[in-house]
Amino acid sequence: MTKKLLRVLKGETLDVPPIWMMRQAGRYLPEYRATRAEAGDFLSLCYNSDLAAEVTLQPIRRYGFDAAILFADILLIPQALGADLWFVTGEGPRLSTITTEADFAPLKPADEVHEHLSPIYETLRILTRELPAETTLIGFAGAPWTVATYMIAGRGTKDQGPAHALKAENRALFEALLDRITAATIEYLSKQIEAGAEVVKLFDSWAGSLKGEDFDRYALAPAKTIIAALKARHPGVPVIAFPREAGEKYVGFARATGADALALDNSVDAVWAAEHLQKDSPVQGNLAPGHMVTGGAALVEETRRIVQTFSGGPHIFNLGHGITPDADPENVQLMIDTVRGG
Ligand code: CP3
Repeated sequence: MTKKLLRVLKGETLDVPPIWMMRQAGRYLPEYRATRAEAGDFLSLCYNSDLAAEVTLQPIRRYGFDAAILFADILLIPQALGADLWFVTGEGPRLSTITTEADFAPLKPADEVHEHLSPIYETLRILTRELPAETTLIGFAGAPWTVATYMIAGRGTKDQGPAHALKAENRALFEALLDRITAATIEYLSKQIEAGAEVVKLFDSWAGSLKGEDFDRYALAPAKTIIAALKARHPGVPVIAFPREAGEKYVGFARATGADALALDNSVDAVWAAEHLQKDSPVQGNLAPGHMVTGGAALVEETRRIVQTFSGGPHIFNLGHGITPDADPENVQLMIDTVRGG
């Protein structure tokens, strides 16, 4: 029996959509916080294969989601390329910045990332043994533009200003950086698939700040390059694309990039998406993560509305972005019961 998530990614419409949740292993779960404390800190947890597999499994045990997403982070690729990376508690990631040719020159070639990332591949191998037979294993990476925004600024930014500035002031360097990340991402995702990932997802969290031709060149084109390379090496392994906040640029994105499904952020109107996107590819999403904090009748109503709106085609239920640390684990159960029980 083929796993539910894989059936939907092949285009099947199921009576009850499969469900998983972005950031399903995370700080809203007490068992996650305990394991992170055991590891010491977030990055140590990412590189400890046994504990990373354990936190990946925690939401599967607690809720029986249809998919498990590898526990890791999109910023491990910059680190594997040679950037410094650390996390400041309560603030987020910090990296050494890339704004000049001299910053870029010492970065490693794309095919030299594997030694650094070998614990991640080991996490996947453990998961292929330990996951329930019906659970799909998802690997992932950040899309080149989103990863570049962190590498250029050295931190998360509200408007991706430093990356837009480099693009304007030194386009050759900006494009060389994107190309390096693109090549490294192909290598990384390829190895994730060889280690057991059955689906991979490309997170372009800041795609929405690329407008017009910039979107096509720096969000769409790199996704197309990555997907084409993965399809050549691993035919049949589905790719989910998440060009977050792309708005109308979601239209045609799956066809243009070769993605098998589109993950929708919660600014996308479900009725519009059912009409304009779901005819081209399966869709995933798109409940606002805030409902996991507030719960109640509004959660139930909105969950039902999304399930109903996408019921005419292939749909994977998910949030429109990651669950936040202040979410109540009981609200997650209520969402799942609503999806599965009507
Ligand atoms: O979804 C999952 O459960 C899989 C694991 C995963 C994490 N990050 C774990 C994580 C995935 C898929 C990511 C993706 C990621 N990481 C993105 C793209 C998706 C998105 O949210 O837009 C981005 C932009 C990052 C970079 C990143 N990692 C930031 C900005 C932060 C700090 C903000 C925060 O939430 O604290 C992280 C840290 C991070 N990545 C945590 C987790 C569970 C929290 C770390 C902790 O435990 O303290």
